Amino acid sequence: MFPETFVRRNVLAWSKRDDVILDPFSGRGTTVFESLLNGRRALGCDTNPVAVCLSKAKADPPALKDILERLDTLEKQSSRFTPKGMELTDEFFTLCFHESTLEQLLFLKKKLDWRKDRTDCFIDALALGCLHGESHKTDLCFSNRMPRTISTKPAYSVKWWNERGCVPPHRDVFSILRTCAEYRYHSSVPPIKGRVVEGDVRRAKTLLRSYKDQVKLVITSPPYLDITDYHEDQWLRLWMLGGPTKPIGGQGKDDRHRRIEAYWQFLREAWKGVVPLLQDKAQVVIRIGGTRLGQEALCEGLLDSLNATGAKFKFLESRQTDIKNGQARIFQPGPEKASVEHDFRFQMA
Ligand SMILES: C[S@@+](CC[C@H](N)C(=O)[O-])C[C@H]1O[C@@H](n2cnc3c(N)ncnc32)[C@H](O)[C@@H]1O
Repeated sequence: MFPETFVRRNVLAWSKRDDVILDPFSGRGTTVFESLLNGRRALGCDTNPVAVCLSKAKADPPALKDILERLDTLEKQSSRFTPKGMELTDEFFTLCFHESTLEQLLFLKKKLDWRKDRTDCFIDALALGCLHGESHKTDLCFSNRMPRTISTKPAYSVKWWNERGCVPPHRDVFSILRTCAEYRYHSSVPPIKGRVVEGDVRRAKTLLRSYKDQVKLVITSPPYLDITDYHEDQWLRLWMLGGPTKPIGGQGKDDRHRRIEAYWQFLREAWKGVVPLLQDKAQVVIRIGGTRLGQEALCEGLLDSLNATGAKFKFLESRQTDIKNGQARIFQPGPEKASVEHDFRFQMA
């Protein structure tokens, strides 16, 4: 995830109020949120439902009153709900969540219509943030101990909990969601709405066609070569949003490449979906890492892939940032990780 400070610095340096800023690989919606907070218009696109739910919640938050009212209604209905599903007897789910917590989650999973309703989307986004994490350190988490960043696989998690005698905490989903909603609304809420679409970056020019030639600045972080499978890593959050009850590797619509040529081909196609939305002299800020590609190779590959759209881009600057080890390492060795990230800035002629 990008740090907010990285996005804010670039928003303030390279755009003015009311300019349109786009993140075509929106992830958790950091670009969308920081742009809106600073009075810019903001667009996002992502294939992953978790990313879309989080980004939409940041782009178009409901009033706190509506969230609290909806939670009250849902809580009343949940007392009359008879939970169903294989999760109730499954070894992973019954070790991951306390029985009553799991029943509340199954209720919300069935009731929340996050794609159509902004209040439900916000409640689901809050639930995704609390769904799993280091529950021995925080009360605002529904699960047995798990990393917050990625959902570990079922067999691995079960073994890990059994070896350590970890039992799921008794957590009340509705009261945690109320606390989190109130906490969120202590800090500022953007004065304007953004627009986030669920879809492939290659189709951004169609999905966001009303913004043709309007985008002044892109701040984005495409998938890194070799690094991760977003669907597998987020499988439990995807389950919460209506996905399958186990991780299914390689099934997601996100792009994940191991061959360098396929990676650059993907980025060439990606920019073709983005460039028609850009205005003259638009700037593109890209944060990217990788274990196999160094700064020079990345810079050259990015510039070539941008220019392959037929537009003419020039390189403006680059920087390097060291990455600290993420918490996922404590629980699982995990996939190979990039140890540095590079920031590049390009401009369209
Ligand atoms: C490195 S992450 C972006 C992280 C983001 N900057 C943040 O702060 O959370 C890359 C994102 O690209 C998305 N993605 C992968 N392939 C895509 C595609 N073909 N079209 C749109 N989004 C895609 C993934 O779902 C993931 O959310």
